[in-house]
Amino acid sequence: MSPFAHITGWGMAVPQRILTNFEISQIVDTSDEKIQELTGIRERHIASEDQSTASLAVDAALKALEMSGLRPESLDLIIVSTSSPEYIFPATACLVQDQIGASKAGAFDLLAACTGFIYALNMASQAIRSGSIQSALVVGSETLSRLVNWKDRNTCILFGDGAGAFVLQASDVPGGILSSVLRSDGSGGDLLSVPGGGSKHPTTLESVEMGLHYVQMNGREVFRFATRVMAQATKEAAAAAGFQIADLALVIPHQANKRIIDAAARGLEIPIERCMINVERYGNTSTASIPIATVEAVESGRLKAGDKIVFVGFGAGLTWGALAVQWSGPILPKRKVYPRSYLFWLRMRSLLLRVVRRMESILWGRDIPRS
Ligand code: ACO
Repeated sequence: MSPFAHITGWGMAVPQRILTNFEISQIVDTSDEKIQELTGIRERHIASEDQSTASLAVDAALKALEMSGLRPESLDLIIVSTSSPEYIFPATACLVQDQIGASKAGAFDLLAACTGFIYALNMASQAIRSGSIQSALVVGSETLSRLVNWKDRNTCILFGDGAGAFVLQASDVPGGILSSVLRSDGSGGDLLSVPGGGSKHPTTLESVEMGLHYVQMNGREVFRFATRVMAQATKEAAAAAGFQIADLALVIPHQANKRIIDAAARGLEIPIERCMINVERYGNTSTASIPIATVEAVESGRLKAGDKIVFVGFGAGLTWGALAVQWSGPILPKRKVYPRSYLFWLRMRSLLLRVVRRMESILWGRDIPRS
């Protein structure tokens, strides 16, 4: 029998700095009342200069590992889902791998915008269910505040920074991630994009002057698309896992806009109380929003072991998807792990690897065969 993929650890990290609607109204022509009316957002967290997508991801990952009791060096795979990676390459996942000391893990980034965490969870759980790996770390991390045009009131009111992480482990006990629905429609790619900086529009003085490196969005069309797909994907994922919508203890949707979540609840014919909502305090943290909402659902007692739930998201691409999950709760560790306590040694390890590589290149670099 193929193993099940259980979520055995979770963690979140958001920057300390909170940016309120009132503060945004000092920058662009808007108001707290209007932002709340359009989106339900009151405030969001914004990364400080010394924080980045990788540093938030590492923070969230360490909390998830502590919760799961899994040592970083036991991890087989790391997927970081992000639309605001540290660099075009190397992958942010590799920076996380190095900083948490996951010495045996493969690591890659996945880009499916705000649906990325759903896609990444599906990839990791499929690898576990196929028997090819035993454990995975899936992180959603964003610093979209760095890609937003702070003079554009249509977009700058929406986004916030943050990260969330899950540890997945194989187990023969039924439960965990049971079904998934992944969809895309590239014909809507232009509705939400950052056009500059890739191979189509490489970075030039002109591309910067034209604002091609900022998030560009047709909000109304994205809104219409989101309200169309959220309920449908939730129903499909639930049905594939054999869940009735009435059985769902909680739907944990991507937190983009309170009105979109209201519409999804209406489409599902469930009371809004059965949807986890925290968009008012974080804004849209893109791929990080679902794990952040999950951590808060557990901490507030709204999500308990055994509960049947659905994660559902949508985003640029266009992409959308949903996962049906029987929530596991932490599988109690044989012994506690404290990955945070040896961060200093992990930095030393990384430094040592760099020194060894440098010495090897001095000693052997000239011996690279040339044709
Ligand atoms: N402040 C003040 N007024 C505003 C603002 C603002 N920030 N934005 C719009 N308005 C005004 C408009 O001028 C308009 O005024 P009018 O009626 O006098 O003409 C009115 O508010 C309504 O404007 P709309 O653009 O029609 O507002 P809408 O109801 O569509 O809400 C919003 C805009 C919030 C952007 C909404 O369309 C939305 O949430 N879309 C989805 C966005 C989203 O989820 N994006 C992220 C996807 S995830 C990812 O992959 C990154």
